Amino acid sequence: MSAGPDIQGRDVVTLDTFSGEEIRHITARARALKQEPLGSPLAGRSLAMVFFDPSLRTRASFSIAFGSLGGTVIDLVAGRDLWPLEMHEGAVMDSLADEHVRDAVRVLSEYADIIAIRALARGGDWAQARRDTVIVSFQKHATVPIFNMESVLDHPCQALGDALTVEDALGGETRGKRVALTWTYHPKARPLAVPHGVGMMAAKLGMDLTVARPEGYDFDPALQRTMEHAAQRSGGSLDFVDDPAAAVENADIVYAASWGSPSLHANPDEERALRDRHRSWQVTPELMGRTATGHFMHAMPIRRNVEAADAVVDGPSSLVIEQAANRLHVQRALFREVLGV
Ligand code: CP
Repeated sequence: MSAGPDIQGRDVVTLDTFSGEEIRHITARARALKQEPLGSPLAGRSLAMVFFDPSLRTRASFSIAFGSLGGTVIDLVAGRDLWPLEMHEGAVMDSLADEHVRDAVRVLSEYADIIAIRALARGGDWAQARRDTVIVSFQKHATVPIFNMESVLDHPCQALGDALTVEDALGGETRGKRVALTWTYHPKARPLAVPHGVGMMAAKLGMDLTVARPEGYDFDPALQRTMEHAAQRSGGSLDFVDDPAAAVENADIVYAASWGSPSLHANPDEERALRDRHRSWQVTPELMGRTATGHFMHAMPIRRNVEAADAVVDGPSSLVIEQAANRLHVQRALFREVLGV
């Protein structure tokens, strides 16, 4: 058990449930654990991961973090390992679903000390998608802590790894530092979870965040209000502009991410046509040059020479590999904090 804020038994579903002090406590623990022998503090403990969507970094960092501390991991892929799940309460289950999420999650809770879920959007309009039905259902029925491995709205473990990366890159102090989050073109409509996580991290850590995005690519309005309130409390700020060059001017961090338009979530053809008009939104060496000493970040996977030029991704200002590596260190810290060992 570590001294400091009590994170034991908590769900890790959104950064909004963690204070700036708690975030700094988790990153400090992750930094300290890098120097310590791993040992087997999670011997006898188990993690059940459930994937409704693919993953490299999250799957590998969760699995290796838990296993390297002596724990047991089970990796279940929906559509391959699970019975098709019914998500609706009170459903008459005479169609395709063989098992209700209520039963699956209560059973998993008997086996595992933590349940982790990745479940992204499945079409429909934004009002429906933003309900985050899968993670909310797991949270409702679980009797053990739930970890969000990326949902429609949030990616808190990515955001915590990013917090560690930002602190280390900026010499430990984040307050008053400038982050430019720039939308980038991508051939697919990507989830809003990473940009939302960046917004929440910056707001909690007292940073000044400028989001550059084309018209139609705003955040979820309710989450944006939450970030604005958090930024007010921490002394940070949140602004939206439509010019990446203006956003990155003298930024300490340039964070590239792509996301689909929430207002066109139910109209993929219209959304693609809008997105295709913004193919020039790429992070280039020229754009990075406007920052003077800015660092480049991206959660990955990254579309090289579409989202960002090779010269940026592989350049001296790029933190992308360190950022991905920090997912493992933060995950070890989080598991130990939540399980109280
Ligand atoms: N950044 C991230 O979550 O990567 P994966 O989708 O590969 O897990």
